[in-house]
Amino acid sequence: MNRRARVAPATVVTYEPHNDRPRSGHERFMTTALELAEQGRGTTSPNPLVGCVLVQPAHPGADHGAIVGRGHHAVAGGPHAEVVALEAAEGFARGATAYVTLEPCSHHGRTPPCTDALIEAGVAKVVVATLDPDPRVRGRGVERLRAAGIPVEVGVLADLAEAQNEPYLTAQREGRPWVLYKTATSLDGRTAATSGDARWVTGDAARDRVHALRGGVDAVAVGVATVLQDDPRLTTRGDHGPTPRKVVFDGAARTPVDAALFLPDEAKRPADVTIFVGTDAPAERTAALEAAGARVVAPGGAARPDVRAALATLHEREIRSLLLEGGGTLAAAFLAADAIDRVAWFVAPKLVGGDAPTALAGAGAERMIDATDLTDVHYEAVGDDLLIEGRIARPPRTGAPEGASPTPDRTTSGGAP
Ligand SMILES: NC(=O)c1ccc[n+]([C@@H]2O[C@H](COP(=O)([O-])OP(=O)(O)OC[C@H]3O[C@@H](n4cnc5c(N)ncnc54)[C@H](OP(=O)(O)O)[C@@H]3O)[C@@H](O)[C@H]2O)c1
Repeated sequence: MNRRARVAPATVVTYEPHNDRPRSGHERFMTTALELAEQGRGTTSPNPLVGCVLVQPAHPGADHGAIVGRGHHAVAGGPHAEVVALEAAEGFARGATAYVTLEPCSHHGRTPPCTDALIEAGVAKVVVATLDPDPRVRGRGVERLRAAGIPVEVGVLADLAEAQNEPYLTAQREGRPWVLYKTATSLDGRTAATSGDARWVTGDAARDRVHALRGGVDAVAVGVATVLQDDPRLTTRGDHGPTPRKVVFDGAARTPVDAALFLPDEAKRPADVTIFVGTDAPAERTAALEAAGARVVAPGGAARPDVRAALATLHEREIRSLLLEGGGTLAAAFLAADAIDRVAWFVAPKLVGGDAPTALAGAGAERMIDATDLTDVHYEAVGDDLLIEGRIARPPRTGAPEGASPTPDRTTSGGAP
């Protein structure tokens, strides 16, 4: 049975709903809702992926209920999954059970509350996979449904729903974007040769995969030394989706005004560049970068921008996922700030040696017990290279926002309608 999240070619994180675990009726319908939700991957940020199915109770003699409406949230600003499913049910929602992968919203955002739509449609019961840690929801959606006399069951396939919405849920709980650190190294852990030359560490297939990772995130970040050494464009090439916004960590505003990252992408869309600088950065340099089209922000930190303050700034701008592309100096600062959630590490079968740069600088772990572990590790051959991908292991969270836990909260026991 494989229930781990994994990195897939066209996405950052996906999940594997089909496994050999026996499913209750509730779980079978929630699996369908999760599959629907998946259809929105790449187009819903800053919103989550959400799927919904409406199921009428089984007729006498039938094994299980009948799906009368399906919906998913397809694009930020568009209708929510519950509303799409209710419309698809064409008046047959009364008395149905709604299976929703994320707690229905109870506030007026870009669209009216989904709780009210479910109540007005006369659904008899709501089954939710995970609660929504968005401070405007956080259990209030469930409370509102229950207050209207609708029984609500929470926690069905919560682990799969958590894996599916990992970037959104992490961003909401932490108040910062979910961060995936991608790096490409030789077998001896070098990201470049001794001269700093890094073209190319890995082969075509791995580099194509990196474009797929870029196409699935809201923003990509590098340190200024990588800009000065490699002059990367940081675009998404091929048919892997849009180019993300670009972020440079650059204490003294040394990014050249003619850096390639200012260029438009393949589709001629203009680059969206943010440069985080230290508060001591020379004013003439920051002015020159602004004139070149960059948004220059000093989030705090005199010589170098503070990582967590910079991430909070990105969160305010509704950036929910960030691909950290190095180099090793910036990656070490992110790790020290406990701001890496996941790692995608491409290893090429070659040896470099000498004093070539490594994928993680900084002070390092003094003892092996102090090393950072990965969990849910996934290994995959990508061309001639190996991709090792996994989640940064953290101690169990304490003090999570109220209502943010996916802990089952069953008010009814049960099978399918
Ligand atoms: N193979 C790969 O996947 C890959 C990916 C990226 C890079 N590379 C290679 O890696 C090398 C560059 O890596 P690098 O480690 O030397 O540099 P880096 O991580 O790209 O940039 C480090 C610089 O970022 C600036 N910075 C701004 N805010 C910071 C903060 N809060 N914490 C830390 N640094 C901050 C600092 O310069 P200031 O003090 O001036 O602010 C620092 O020296 C190049 O040779 C490049 O080719 C390889």
